[in-house]
Amino acid sequence: MAVERTFSIIKPDATRRNLTGAVNAKLEEAGLRIVAQKRIHMSKDQAEGFYAVHKERPFFGELVEFMISEPVVVQVLEGEDAVAKNREVMGATNPAEADAGTIRKEFALNIGENSVHGSDSLENAGIEIAFFFNDDEIVG
Ligand code: CMP
Repeated sequence: MAVERTFSIIKPDATRRNLTGAVNAKLEEAGLRIVAQKRIHMSKDQAEGFYAVHKERPFFGELVEFMISEPVVVQVLEGEDAVAKNREVMGATNPAEADAGTIRKEFALNIGENSVHGSDSLENAGIEIAFFFNDDEIVG
């Protein structure tokens, strides 16, 4: 196992319901360290750029509007196997399919308003971290 960094977003449905601390507790209980974190209101350009890989999907417009609707918390998480560990603690994209005890099972409202985003690979983690953070903002 290797120490990795992954990228995470606490989405508007969770910040709106004051669940930032509850989500962070789940991440920390899973052994992930929050080594960078900031609350931002994403611009449309940022949301469209971040989710560019999904731009042909039918839900793209809805996804962008949701992500800019209210503040989000962008984070860098560090730990052994952080990419996989974060995906495990997040649970499946659709909360109806998420395992008990996961963030999405406990907090997500539906497949769109699903409380958190997490990088799906180490390569994408590096790209997504660089999208929102400078190196000097990450303190491990
Ligand atoms: P995320 O991990 O942030 O990556 C892309 C997002 O698109 C995903 O979480 C969901 O929130 C959203 N998404 C995926 N499928 C759908 C769908 N069928 N309808 C609406 N949003 C979706």
